[in-house]
Amino acid sequence: MGDQRVILISANWKMHLNNVEALSLVQQFAAHLSASPIPPGREVSIHPPFTSLATVKAAIETYRLPVVLGAQTCHFADSGAYTGEVSAGMLASLNVRYVIAGHSELRAQCGETDEVVRDKVSAIYRHAMRPILCVGETTAERNSGVAERKVRRQVASALGDRPAELVAAAVIAYEPLWAIGAGVTATPDDAAQMCTAIRNELGNLAGVDEAAMVRIQYGGSVTAESSGALLGAENVDGFLVGGASLDAEQFSTIVTG
Ligand code: PGA
Repeated sequence: MGDQRVILISANWKMHLNNVEALSLVQQFAAHLSASPIPPGREVSIHPPFTSLATVKAAIETYRLPVVLGAQTCHFADSGAYTGEVSAGMLASLNVRYVIAGHSELRAQCGETDEVVRDKVSAIYRHAMRPILCVGETTAERNSGVAERKVRRQVASALGDRPAELVAAAVIAYEPLWAIGAGVTATPDDAAQMCTAIRNELGNLAGVDEAAMVRIQYGGSVTAESSGALLGAENVDGFLVGGASLDAEQFSTIVTG
């Protein structure tokens, strides 16, 4: 459980919902929240596709939703000849507060290396936003006993050699690849063990006090059924939710439950 830390629950919509569908989901979510508000000590971010950011921003304002806007990725450069890309500055101008960096789907499908992830995290900080840095191991890595070493390396690569206050401002999402979109959730014990290792690594990088301020999310097939027990796990300070965030009722239950 996240001691004094504010729980952060983030909806990663991935490549789902067009502009009209995005508005409809936010409206449904708003209706659920008016019946059952977000408890104190919890923060919620919604990460739609780029094409719906402006729509979701407007809906958050119109319905006075107590949630913040997030994005799923950004480019590491501030501008330039990068056809099809979106810069961190463009996101900041839309009031985006959190940007996901290093999601395993981008690492696997778009060749996003640890170096690229580090540069993206730098771009996010340059524009006064906060990264949600995704880390996690494959089944093979878990079975061969290198999971913790890999995850620590991913954390150190993205956040090492940064001012301690920037490390403290980071959010880490521990997302074991074997759990993402798989219908298999890590047990609370598995999540606690890795999230504790991550906090220890953060302590090595920036000091124990700064490490204690970092929110560490769990991600991977989180549902309304699994969320309660996972939130009780040591060093788990919230969730990065994919599939279940596309269902207003289920996501509301995760957020308020
Ligand atoms: P999932 O996705 O909840 O659908 O497993 C989580 C994620 O990839 O961020």
